[in-house]
Amino acid sequence: MDKLVIHGGQPLEGPLRVSGSKNTALPLMAAAVLADGKTTITNVPNLRDVTTFSKVIQVAGPNVQFDPDAHTVSIDATTVDHPVAPYELVKKMRASFYMLGALLGRCGEAKVSLPGGCAWGPRPVDLHIKGMREFGAEIELDEGYVIARTPKGGLRGGSFRMEPSSVGATVNLLLGAVTAAGPSKIENAAMEPDVVAFGEALKEMGAQISGLGTRTIEIQGVDQLDPVDVRNTPDRIELGTYMLMALTAGAPGASIDVTHGNHHHLGHAFKEAVDATGADVLYDDDTVTLTPPETPEPVSIQTATYPGFPTDLQAQWTVYLALCDGTATVTDTIYDDRFKHVPELQRLGIDVAVKGNTATVRGGEPIKGAKVMSTDLRASVSLVMAGMVADGTTDVLRVYHLDRGYEDLEQKLQDAGIDIHREEYDEFAEPELER
Ligand code: UD1
Repeated sequence: MDKLVIHGGQPLEGPLRVSGSKNTALPLMAAAVLADGKTTITNVPNLRDVTTFSKVIQVAGPNVQFDPDAHTVSIDATTVDHPVAPYELVKKMRASFYMLGALLGRCGEAKVSLPGGCAWGPRPVDLHIKGMREFGAEIELDEGYVIARTPKGGLRGGSFRMEPSSVGATVNLLLGAVTAAGPSKIENAAMEPDVVAFGEALKEMGAQISGLGTRTIEIQGVDQLDPVDVRNTPDRIELGTYMLMALTAGAPGASIDVTHGNHHHLGHAFKEAVDATGADVLYDDDTVTLTPPETPEPVSIQTATYPGFPTDLQAQWTVYLALCDGTATVTDTIYDDRFKHVPELQRLGIDVAVKGNTATVRGGEPIKGAKVMSTDLRASVSLVMAGMVADGTTDVLRVYHLDRGYEDLEQKLQDAGIDIHREEYDEFAEPELER
């Protein structure tokens, strides 16, 4: 297994470059399954989730070519003859469940493994299933699989209101509805930029969709979709992460550029919270220039759906708060129990405690290097961030979580001035204990 070793205390100088969005690339790849022909997606990040999803799609029949150096995925979905997404792959990545909508839309049937929970708790897919039933699918659960069938002619379309609003369920239902026999309506739909970019690509493929970026999306089914060449959007969570890294590990008063992002996709709540800490932030075309304050103001945040504060940035915010002079809270209203990073941050000396769905951080305590364990993608990057400002050496173990979502992280950070490298280790080796 790999770990990241960080010798803390080197200031982050930048610039940091944002890669293509993971959470948009995956729905775009699923969309390609709907078209009879070859779709090409550019600006795709070289991430483990992308290679996993490439395999998932190949199982169903399409030919998938991922060129990681060119950041391009080509999916030739002329043949989709095995509408199955097996447990062995779905368990590695929950977004594989997008094959439910893609296969129902293309083949009128699907056998897709239930994803199960994730590192920080249960993550249900009940809305995906209920919505698909409303759109005309007959669904049964058998041996851990969702078996979905449709009457002759495929899904008929329908109306579904989701509560809460779900990114994944909106994507899946759109995939199913665009080629349904009749019209569909999704209420309380996700408004996240990832969903909008995906919906726009479907429209380019010939889908008839209105209301993208609002809570009500309406779809008029069409007979078939055409393949397209589409450019993936920049990763907004990577942009937000690098902004917080710059503010946390940059030298106060020095400016740091984060490039190739789309700041319009961050949502107002995150930008307002950053401003309120006293950071100086300049938003230009695709570059954000940040100047860290001497000591950030403690600013409490609460996660919410877009354009609220993203849950995928709350762990990183917690680390930024550790630099403040004062106390602030981080409340997650999307995932009540997404706090597995907190005990690890405590090991680094950060004064943080969780009660219910709120972490309270008392800033200003010295941060000291230690061995810490990654538990999930965003938690891991928060540990790297803390290691960058820790006194001494921090080993972030089980770094495979990070490789799911941050392209070339250690290379990017090295180029930006951070003393970080990757090492292999044996997780099950007998420890050599001193006595
Ligand atoms: C996506 C993102 C993930 C992000 C999350 C919230 C991808 C690949 N992943 O995950 O990075 O953290 O959005 O912004 O894009 N829910 C149900 N039933 C369902 C589905 C969801 O109750 O069937 C609940 C969830 O438990 C959660 C809320 O809805 O409380 C939002 O989850 P959802 O938007 O579905 O997250 P994902 O699409 O899985």
